[in-house]
Amino acid sequence: MATSTSTRPPGIGRVASFYLIRKFKNNYLRVYECLKARFGCLCTVYLPHLRYLVFHPDDIKHCLRDNFENYAKGDDYRELQPLFGDGLVTSDGKIWHEQRRQLASHFQHSQLRQYQGIFVRRTRDMLDRWTANGTQSELRDVTADFADHAFVIAGDAFFGTEFGNDAFTMRQALATVLHEATQRMVNLCNFPLHLPTPANRRYLRAVREIDRVVFEAIDRRLKSGIAQADLLSALLNGSTAEGTRCTSRLVRDQLVTFMIAGHETSGLSLAWTLGVLSHRQDIQDNVAQEVRDVLGGNEPSFESLARLTYTKMVIQEILRLYPPAPVISRCTLSDMSLRGCKIEAGSTVTFPVGVTHRDPERWDSPAEFRPERFDPHVASGRQPFAFMPFGVGARSCIGETFAYHEMLTVIAMVCQRYSIEAVGDALPDAFPKIMLHPTSPILVTVRRRNESG
Ligand code: HEM
Repeated sequence: MATSTSTRPPGIGRVASFYLIRKFKNNYLRVYECLKARFGCLCTVYLPHLRYLVFHPDDIKHCLRDNFENYAKGDDYRELQPLFGDGLVTSDGKIWHEQRRQLASHFQHSQLRQYQGIFVRRTRDMLDRWTANGTQSELRDVTADFADHAFVIAGDAFFGTEFGNDAFTMRQALATVLHEATQRMVNLCNFPLHLPTPANRRYLRAVREIDRVVFEAIDRRLKSGIAQADLLSALLNGSTAEGTRCTSRLVRDQLVTFMIAGHETSGLSLAWTLGVLSHRQDIQDNVAQEVRDVLGGNEPSFESLARLTYTKMVIQEILRLYPPAPVISRCTLSDMSLRGCKIEAGSTVTFPVGVTHRDPERWDSPAEFRPERFDPHVASGRQPFAFMPFGVGARSCIGETFAYHEMLTVIAMVCQRYSIEAVGDALPDAFPKIMLHPTSPILVTVRRRNESG
């Protein structure tokens, strides 16, 4: 794999690629899937610049884990820079290294135990609002419900009580910037942000609004002088290798990064989970049974989550079929070779996770929903690195355990109180933006379970 050669991988040239741009805007994952079917597990396309597509699990491991230092985040993340600044998702090199080291300790067990209280309390609040008018059942748009829910949880976990009355403003502004950044990423060619087009102005106005809310929250916390068990205090109290405190700007960058990376992803996964469970009564019954066996009517504690093994398998199968982040991208820092082909320094390399997760060469009947694939007691024969919803290697998701705990808690508490019924014959299709969204809201009917379950 590491031999030097000048062969270019197969792929389509500039002119043919030009005709793909419209299809790319409609659904880039489908374009990647077609290219893989035609050219195999390493190929190239011009979108509008040369891009290498890497699909094979061994190659993904080689690039993202074994040689991660040879890659930077690169151009695909540039559109997020005004928003994320030097936050963990977009930074590279020394800043990233120091911040990752400092923040890793914040996401260890002792802190996650504290977050469990937030997951439970906020989920209880949400469920109390369902069927609050005393009816037995109700139609819910779970895409909207869980987007709000994950946002509220992230707000509590990262900002503590500092959001105050600005939560709504923040929510709106984050939705605007994500929408505009997504448009810019799929447009492939954009007006520079400093030009005052209506879209640029909307984007920058929303970034300024976010900045105002976040800097005010930082100020309030600094003035109060009282540390809380949240990310904001961890960032303010943490120090760099030189022993200096993070600047307010860097604290702001991390908080905005975590708010965005930490709520849309789990909100979407929860919505897909409920959508799928509404169509698969058999699997929903299994989850409800496990929740009864493990929790016996109590709310989930930090310790009990590890025993919800089947529920976790269901969530993993959701993340395989509907990975919230369906593509990972990098820029090479020096020449490298893969499968006997040379990839020059400065190239964009894309890892279409969403395609590898449904690759028939790696998975039996890949389109089928089968949680048993993730049974930890069964040797599945699954190829390592064929499943990577949280990325791979040093830059994989720092919030993975947080996300599993949050999702397990929510699904368990929903299934304790409600059975979920399908609305319509099928789930909406998945549509990739920066994240994998349903093409229309996921609707379900929630019906109160009787006392005996
Ligand atoms: C279902 C939920 C989630 C999924 C599927 C997910 C997925 C991912 C993926 C694929 C990456 C790697 C991106 C890359 O390599 O370019 C990533 C990175 C990251 N995620 Fe998550 N994530 C989830 C939840 C969360 C949560 C809850 C948080 C915050 C607590 C979070 C914070 C981050 C951060 C800060 C990074 C950047 C890490 C770094 O570069 O060092 N994520 N996530």
